[in-house]
Amino acid sequence: MANSLDELKKEIDGCKKCRLCEERKNIVFGVGNPNADLMFIGEGPGADEDEQGKPFVGKAGQLMDKAFDGVGIKREDVYIANIVKCRPPNNRDPQDDEASTCMDYLKEQINLVKPKIIVLLGRIALNNILGKEYGITKDRGRWIEKEGMLYMPVWHPAALLRDESKKIDFWKDLKTVKQKLQTI
Ligand code: URA
Repeated sequence: MANSLDELKKEIDGCKKCRLCEERKNIVFGVGNPNADLMFIGEGPGADEDEQGKPFVGKAGQLMDKAFDGVGIKREDVYIANIVKCRPPNNRDPQDDEASTCMDYLKEQINLVKPKIIVLLGRIALNNILGKEYGITKDRGRWIEKEGMLYMPVWHPAALLRDESKKIDFWKDLKTVKQKLQTI
């Protein structure tokens, strides 16, 4: 068990625990405030993230930043990570064994950051963190409390790029999160 995010990051350096190591350029560990009350969990790095080693820096990330600005969430205040830390080839979904192998790292990150709220960005984050009985279409925008943690599933920002009508939900859900944060 690492004592800090920096220590964990060093431990993960060069990880070869699953096949995703074969084609990655960079491990995308996570960024943000190490003591954030609010944590965001995405799916896995895309091409831009793999290139830069940082989560949500491509088109989906830029859209997420716009929503953050709109509702008054500052990127430097939150912590952002992914279910898998290495880019799945051709942006395919992470496979179950890849996600579960990487989950030990994510759990350590959550334990170190100790957020009050975790926003689950999209289906992959929702199903891997809370289980496959949840569905993003039916459960987005709804608070889910589990083992003392508050979760808010929302559309993945990439889904907003494909379907603009989802933007309204995304903005609304982030507003709900921002309001809740001020009360806990
Ligand atoms: N999509 C994700 O799920 N995570 C990223 O870091 C970038 C795009």
